[in-house]
Amino acid sequence: FAFTPANQAWAEAQITKYPEGRQASAIIPLFWRAQEQEGWLTRPAIEHISEMLGLAYIRGLEVATFYFMFQLQPVGSVANIQICGTTSCMICGAEDLISVCREKIAANPHELSADGRFSWEEVECLGACSNAPMAQIGKDYYEDLTAARLGEIIDELAAGQVPVPGPQNGRYGSEPL
Ligand code: FES
Repeated sequence: FAFTPANQAWAEAQITKYPEGRQASAIIPLFWRAQEQEGWLTRPAIEHISEMLGLAYIRGLEVATFYFMFQLQPVGSVANIQICGTTSCMICGAEDLISVCREKIAANPHELSADGRFSWEEVECLGACSNAPMAQIGKDYYEDLTAARLGEIIDELAAGQVPVPGPQNGRYGSEPL
């Protein structure tokens, strides 16, 4: 693994933001940039960044495995659908959304669809509980989802469209106004 020259310069700049002896605190932004660059956080990237920060690989791996925001396996090239499965969303229909993902993408979480374009997973609360059930796709929240609407969203993404994020029933949500 190597950062692109632009990302390498960015990473080095991040490290200088932390006090002497605390450079390891830059690990999360560096992991995040590596994930954006590669599509997921590969073992060579974790090794490289840990080394950059003077950490043993196992310490980097501890951080990478703690946060579900870091993808430790390849994700769909078009979208990785993150279904919130915590209490509010579970009560309001997360299981139905997961069924749609099993049907349209792959039988199991973290599996790629046959064409490699989609993947899905269940995640913990994403903080949009009042608009449950919801899913995160990329950096966007899709809230007040129904199984039917999630199916449409996946179809729109597959067709190269960008579904409008936010509440899918028109009410106020967590997207910026
Ligand atoms: Fe789903 Fe909080 S429980 S967003």
